[in-house]
Amino acid sequence: MIENVTGRQVLDSRGNPTVEVDVVLSDGSRGRAAVPSGASTGTHEAVELRDGDPARFHGREVRRAVAAVNGEIAAAVTGLDAEDQARVDRTMTELDGTPGKSRLGANAILGVSLATVKAAAQAHRQPLYRYVGGVGARLLPVPMMNIVNGGAHADNPLDFQEFMIAPVGAPTFFEAVRMGAEVFHTLKKSLAGAGHNTNVGDEGGFAPHFATADEALEFVLRAIEDTGYKPGTDISICLDPAASEFFSAGRYRYAGEDRDRTVAEQVDYLETLLARYPISSLEDPMAEDDIDGWQQLTRRTGDRVQLVGDDVFCTDAERLRAGIEGGYANAILVKLNQIGTLTETLATVDAAHKAGYRVVMSHRSGETEDTTIADLAVAVGCGQIKTGSLSRSDRTAKYNQLIRIEEELGDTARYAGRG
Ligand code: PGA
Ligand code: ZN
Repeated sequence: MIENVTGRQVLDSRGNPTVEVDVVLSDGSRGRAAVPSGASTGTHEAVELRDGDPARFHGREVRRAVAAVNGEIAAAVTGLDAEDQARVDRTMTELDGTPGKSRLGANAILGVSLATVKAAAQAHRQPLYRYVGGVGARLLPVPMMNIVNGGAHADNPLDFQEFMIAPVGAPTFFEAVRMGAEVFHTLKKSLAGAGHNTNVGDEGGFAPHFATADEALEFVLRAIEDTGYKPGTDISICLDPAASEFFSAGRYRYAGEDRDRTVAEQVDYLETLLARYPISSLEDPMAEDDIDGWQQLTRRTGDRVQLVGDDVFCTDAERLRAGIEGGYANAILVKLNQIGTLTETLATVDAAHKAGYRVVMSHRSGETEDTTIADLAVAVGCGQIKTGSLSRSDRTAKYNQLIRIEEELGDTARYAGRG
């Protein structure tokens, strides 16, 4: 039974305040969760409540969300059975009463939702991935490691947001991390050798002064080869252009190249990149409002590449249904704070799996030391996680947790690999 709920403000990886929640059960079990925060957010995401007082944290303080945790939410969930996650989550959603969780804040609600499941797992003396996923939870995800940052995550002219490597040919999760880290260091050397800076962006990937995707892709491809891996076979490339960020009035605006692309040209351009590089996954290659573009791209390439909807679906089962019925995308990015409760997130994952859509568990660009998504990726057996680069503890914390889970599962662990 939930006995105590405490919210507080802590800092995220960008130095902004975020909500952290402790839940204590009557048997003394405890759960703690900190809520992440996006920069390139989808229009239809659940609402992250920020105070907006310019005198404090530049308007980004979350005192109102914390007050909701310690006040209304604590009062409503105290006494509920922590094992009844659906009831706890429904109680908060109904208490909020708005479609986007804008009254109490999705950041307040998610903090309590995740702290509750962690406390319940502790009460059962089970690791989180097993408590949520059961005894069958033993699939370690392929990490999509974001080694070049652009877009809203870096201060460079690069229009695409993320250039990731996925060690699909690794035998184990740990070996996948080793391969990724080796390529990361090779890339650092080659960037420095070519006179580029090796500063990192919000997700720990390098953020050199690249202007085009081709430039970034050539460096990444060469780093894979120079480390001794076979591109496409050992390590494939995944992109998140985050195209909603540079789409307006029906055109994709490439500031780095100083040119526009129409929807048809965008589809052609992406096909060119697919032909030129060993790309296995494209996330948000089209904007959230460009459904026609999404459909064109899916018809043309959906049989040979993973097309992941992030902004277009916002982890919302209803929005996903539109994609399934409308024939666009073939995979979904899952970010807990886009929807705001664990129960709704699990329902979305379930709907995706039933429709044959692949699922990628994901961090946000603003993160903390919280590693819940690592456990959840194993719990739902989705086989893929994106949680940033091989630097910055807010990113590596998730990889490190997956290393521990793989160790704990021993020879029953399976690495998803090429799937
Ligand atoms: P965000 O970026 O957390 O800033 O939204 C991640 C993504 O777009 O996948
Ligand atoms: Zn994205």
